Amino acid sequence: MTPPTSDVALGFLLNGSSVSVTCAPEDRLLDLLRGPLRLPGTKEGCGEGECGACTVLLNGLPVNSCLVPSYQADGATVETIEALADERHAALLEGGATQCGACTPGVAMTAEWIRRHPALGKRFPLSELMAGNLCRCTGYDGILKSLEAALTDDEGTA
Ligand code: FES
Ligand code: FES
Repeated sequence: MTPPTSDVALGFLLNGSSVSVTCAPEDRLLDLLRGPLRLPGTKEGCGEGECGACTVLLNGLPVNSCLVPSYQADGATVETIEALADERHAALLEGGATQCGACTPGVAMTAEWIRRHPALGKRFPLSELMAGNLCRCTGYDGILKSLEAALTDDEGTA
């Protein structure tokens, strides 16, 4: 896709609803979500594709929205933390997986991707699947245990 040189009108499916919005060529998907689309749940950490705090699902796949040019969302499906059930947050909180909370939305979005693809969890360790989501607070133990429990619960109720 050739980058636009002037403002561009986009249309895409955001958390199940059609949205239309105009973006500047240099806008990142993260800017679009937190700015004109008023969804502040997606966080900015490093802004360089290293920490995963800004993870959203783009056409069902986890991406670092700080690295995705907004215009690439045109015609796509975008899902953010605002679309996830509260239970997933609850599972993270109960398991001591959240301290400052900066990483939590990104962790929850990657976990949602894993939940939708149970075969992934059978092929790869959870720690490997979650490796793109950094947490400076918890030491990962609480996160991995909480997610493991939540994913096992989901399998049980599927
Ligand atoms: S803010 Fe996007 S990866 Fe860190
Ligand atoms: S809870 Fe603070 S970065 Fe993860």
